[in-house]
Amino acid sequence: MKLGRLNHVGVATPSIEAALRFWRDVMGARVIGEPFDMAAQGVRVCFVETPGEDGTAGTQIELLEPLGEGSPIAAFLEKNPLGGQHHLAFEVPDIHAAKVWFEGQGKRVLGEPRMGAHGTLVFFVHPRDMGGVLTEIMETPDGH
Ligand code: CO
Repeated sequence: MKLGRLNHVGVATPSIEAALRFWRDVMGARVIGEPFDMAAQGVRVCFVETPGEDGTAGTQIELLEPLGEGSPIAAFLEKNPLGGQHHLAFEVPDIHAAKVWFEGQGKRVLGEPRMGAHGTLVFFVHPRDMGGVLTEIMETPDGH
């Protein structure tokens, strides 16, 4: 298993609209995606990119707003009403090999690999096995 780059930081928010104002007006983000629903995951998602220096690519922030009843981030927002850092996502070349690796290390993989917001397969690893950090492992998207 070869861990790749940090792809994005997931941030839960009660309102993507309000979060976008913050990232644009206060943090200076200029690359802002269109929000979209991932109904199967129970979240509305929007990517913003932190401004890089001199036009270089920054780092992606994945804004997550609960969608529908029983959204997996509803409980998180109950504990953190303002929202907050939710997960870190790392790229790997082979999602199935990565799952075997983490399970072999005794880490609790939450479910089977499923389609993520970048159109590649992802899975999550339980924060209690990862130093308190909910960790998303995603197959590297094309163009990286
Ligand atoms: Co993510």
